[in-house]
Amino acid sequence: MSEQQRIPRHVAIIMDGNGRWAKKRMMPRFMGHRKGAQRVREVVQACAEAGVEVLTLFAFSTENWQRPQEEVSALMQLFLDALHKERDALHDNNIRLRVIGDRSRFEPPIQAAIEETERLTANNDAMVLNVAANYGGRWDIVQAVRHLLKAGCAPDAITEEAIERYLSTAGLPEPDLLIRTGGEQRLSNFLIWQLAYTELYFVSTLWPDFDRQALEEALQAFSQRQRRFGRVEDAC
Ligand code: IPE
Ligand code: IPE
Ligand code: MG
Repeated sequence: MSEQQRIPRHVAIIMDGNGRWAKKRMMPRFMGHRKGAQRVREVVQACAEAGVEVLTLFAFSTENWQRPQEEVSALMQLFLDALHKERDALHDNNIRLRVIGDRSRFEPPIQAAIEETERLTANNDAMVLNVAANYGGRWDIVQAVRHLLKAGCAPDAITEEAIERYLSTAGLPEPDLLIRTGGEQRLSNFLIWQLAYTELYFVSTLWPDFDRQALEEALQAFSQRQRRFGRVEDAC
């Protein structure tokens, strides 16, 4: 297989830059979030077509509750609208939706829409789409350890594999490629356990401008990376 065809099995994306996109256009931040939400469909489609098995999108962090109430409400409304609007398209494209994060803090209509879409798409197998909402990497590790302890796990049985079995991404391959749009070069508490050996790709493009071609450039950059996982390169 040529280098060009090496497709990551799992792509994770920090969709950042919506507010700055709006500000540049003298629009309220909400307009950036709306435009950003519209981009999601294109990128989901492009990943599925490229043969990506798992796509994980960071939609709302555990820290994002600290934003002004007006912005948080707008984001919640957009999330609810997207769940309703995209449900059938996801199902038609054989994509399985999973929401990762602490959903107990969401209003009942959002929790119901999540459950309904997860149930509808549960048997789809073209691609898994994880939407990280009220998600934090530290939360993920803490909830996994709590599960282990509640299951009566002895201290010596708390291994890396045991923790992985209870992370919100259990059963899925670890991300091969992390993309962060918007120019910041940090993880902002996203998948901190799972990203241990992930290739990082930071791009200044703001999320509402991140189109199919931008995704293809990221996939192309990934195919040129050499991963070693702590080992030395093959001698051949
Ligand atoms: C990312 O865009 C969306 C969320 C965090 C929900 P931002 O809203 O963080 O946009 P910037 O970083 O302020 O431009
Ligand atoms: C990370 O972006 C969260 C999401 C994209 C959902 P933020 O804009 O919240 O991150 P910081 O504040 O710049 O680290
Ligand atoms: Mg931001």
